[in-house]
Amino acid sequence: MWGAALSSYQCEGKNFNTDWCVWEKEKGFQNAGLCCNHYELFEQDFKLASRLNLNSLRISLEWARICPQSSQFSEQALSHYEEVINKIISFGLTPIVTLHHFTNPIWFAKNGGWLNSKNVDGFLRYLRKTVELFKNKVQYWLILNEPCVYVYNSFIRGSWPPGTKSLSCAKKVLVNMIEAYLQGYQEIKKIYGTNLSLVSFSKHMRVFSPCSNNGLDNFAAFLRHKLFNLSVVEYLFSRNSLDFLALNYYCKEYDRFKGIFGRKCSCLRHKERKNNLGWYVYPEGFYKLLLGLKRFRLPVIITENGTAEIKDSFYEQYLLAHLQSAAKAIGEGVDLRGYFWWSLLDNFEWDKGFEKRFGLIEVDYADFRRTVRPFALTYSRICKDNRLDV
Ligand code: BGC
Repeated sequence: MWGAALSSYQCEGKNFNTDWCVWEKEKGFQNAGLCCNHYELFEQDFKLASRLNLNSLRISLEWARICPQSSQFSEQALSHYEEVINKIISFGLTPIVTLHHFTNPIWFAKNGGWLNSKNVDGFLRYLRKTVELFKNKVQYWLILNEPCVYVYNSFIRGSWPPGTKSLSCAKKVLVNMIEAYLQGYQEIKKIYGTNLSLVSFSKHMRVFSPCSNNGLDNFAAFLRHKLFNLSVVEYLFSRNSLDFLALNYYCKEYDRFKGIFGRKCSCLRHKERKNNLGWYVYPEGFYKLLLGLKRFRLPVIITENGTAEIKDSFYEQYLLAHLQSAAKAIGEGVDLRGYFWWSLLDNFEWDKGFEKRFGLIEVDYADFRRTVRPFALTYSRICKDNRLDV
């Protein structure tokens, strides 16, 4: 599969029913507002994706649109997403559908959000409804996107809604999300019966590297890898609840031994180039992580890999270097089935707003004009030929 990824809140626009929208208003942050206006322009965007020779597309459904109230479904939203999925398929793209990509309906947040274990049922109601509706069109489901990133930003760092900084809350939320995943996995299997569904969650992984050669920094990096990269995957794997591994990879971080979990360090002595978000670009790490996943003996799909840059040529360098790493991993037996660039479009980068641009396609936020970036043409040739040496 050669594709690109999108998430509803980051590109659709007018997602007023979400906890994120409330948060932006309350905090006076940059508002996602009309965003890329993808809610209206989706057909044009899918056409561009297919012209770029992509054969797959990862999208997410906006739970808050589909369930504006806890036990109410919006027929209008459901038929919108039906049209979206039909269009994706009509352009020859295989859809991968994410059910939760960081945002929650307002009613859910008001009832305590993921902190309240009783709320898991609300998520499962939405899951059942949508999976039932799209089961004949969609085979790949990602129940959650990056639960650890969500928990970290929303309940430890407190920089995403609900802005909590509490380790015990973070733990509860993660437990509830894992429970929602496990039950959701069973529900999807029940709905599909003897038909094939492929279910997983997108796992963000980074390379954790010791800041110095000192044993304690080494320990911090090791601990962070175990805890933040592997623990949830290992647990869900042990429960036989992963049909494939969905990896999101961007960068490397340097760590020091500080606090109970170690800490990302921000010293300036490391040599790798940084992207426009200050992330260390480390394609070799992609290879290493992929190789480390071999032991699960599951197919792997890269559901996100990408960068935000200031200079156009850096996008292409990043793309090619990461694809070379992926090819090397395939050569060593990693069962890699798909690669999705983050993102098809420039979009709303959460608390960082619109400035950081990840798109194969540039978006002019003043008039929503789309312009294909030069590196997207390189990607397009690779997708068409299904090989790297273009
Ligand atoms: C998330 C995206 C985000 C991207 C770049 C991923 O962790 O799934 O929503 O835009 O990283 O930060």
